[in-house]
Amino acid sequence: MRVVITGGGGFLGRQLCKRLLGVGELTLADGSRSAIQEITLFDRSFDSGALDSIWSHFQSPHHSLPSVRCVSGSIEEESSVQAALGKDSNLSVFHLASMVSGECEDQFDEAWRVNVLGMRLLLDTLCKVGGNPKVVFSSSIACFGGELPAPCDDRTKHTPQTTYGMTKVIGELMINDYSRKGYIDGRSARLPTVIIRPGKPNTAASSWASGMFREPLKQEVCLLPVDWDQPHPMTGYRTVIDSLIALHEVPQAVLGHDRAIGLPARCVTPRMAKEALQRFAAETGVVLGEIQESPDARIQSIVRQWPKQVDGARGIAIGLPDAPSLSEIIHDYIDDFGNQALP
Ligand SMILES: NC(=O)c1ccc[n+]([C@@H]2O[C@H](COP(=O)([O-])OP(=O)(O)OC[C@H]3O[C@@H](n4cnc5c(N)ncnc54)[C@H](O)[C@@H]3O)[C@@H](O)[C@H]2O)c1
Repeated sequence: MRVVITGGGGFLGRQLCKRLLGVGELTLADGSRSAIQEITLFDRSFDSGALDSIWSHFQSPHHSLPSVRCVSGSIEEESSVQAALGKDSNLSVFHLASMVSGECEDQFDEAWRVNVLGMRLLLDTLCKVGGNPKVVFSSSIACFGGELPAPCDDRTKHTPQTTYGMTKVIGELMINDYSRKGYIDGRSARLPTVIIRPGKPNTAASSWASGMFREPLKQEVCLLPVDWDQPHPMTGYRTVIDSLIALHEVPQAVLGHDRAIGLPARCVTPRMAKEALQRFAAETGVVLGEIQESPDARIQSIVRQWPKQVDGARGIAIGLPDAPSLSEIIHDYIDDFGNQALP
């Protein structure tokens, strides 16, 4: 079988690719197990070292692993989407390509074109390929907004207060309806904020959630745009990747009519992050950079509309992993990104 990862040049797309190379096989919609022969990463563009960073993870010879190809193009362009999906129906798609929250808030029309119309183009092109392929879509807790119960769960009404959240709600509904019609076998994973993202801050309104770990570990100053006690649901990237794969494997009968599953998350505040980092520093002797308050009214107004706590019991009941501790997340990050994570 083939696997296509849209947004395959991004943070989670690359991690997913590495994990799938290790896993080696998946379950098709008809229930049969199939070896992964090829993984296609589809993205607007790729860093020059994108493939090297994936292969550097493996010591075994590459010829024993699935092949990986990169297809550059926009999800808004039919020819690019066709090139990424190919013609053979023996495939699964992980749809991760998306504009992030800050971008969507600033670029309303572009958010519609990429996150909504691009996703529809992807699904319609998949329908033409045929074979009722499995599709795993990365949604977000930004689907929730405004006056919310604590915690939110899969029955909480979707009243997003951002354009990004609105596009993710539409994505979840498309996955449900294309699946109901029998065009695809879709699933949506509703992701909390994923930590710790390596590299530079991005334009997501939740960028501080990774920054408050990443910058101090590099002995750099972190400017914190939200309050020290702002609660926010978070989980580790390794767990998210395991969850996307586990959700792909769940038999569709288990999912029922609502195929959008909230991933379990921890409720984390910047104060809790600082304490976890201090424990890590005490264990390892790492010297930490400072976290400095730098209130940002725009970021605060977006983050305050998001849920503070989510209940992932439905996900756990169908076999998805629980959220790890902050200590595990920090150790995983150092293990995976040690050479760039520390000074
Ligand atoms: N990281 C998080 O905290 C988080 C939380 C909730 C949901 N999600 C969702 O998970 C998915 C992956 O997130 P990530 O953290 O890897 O983000 P990312 O920004 O690193 O990756 C997204 C990728 O999508 C690509 N993309 C954007 N527009 C495109 C277009 N028009 N055509 C093709 N590709 C395009 C980008 O170039 C990028 O590489 C996204 O759908 C995101 O909304 C992430």
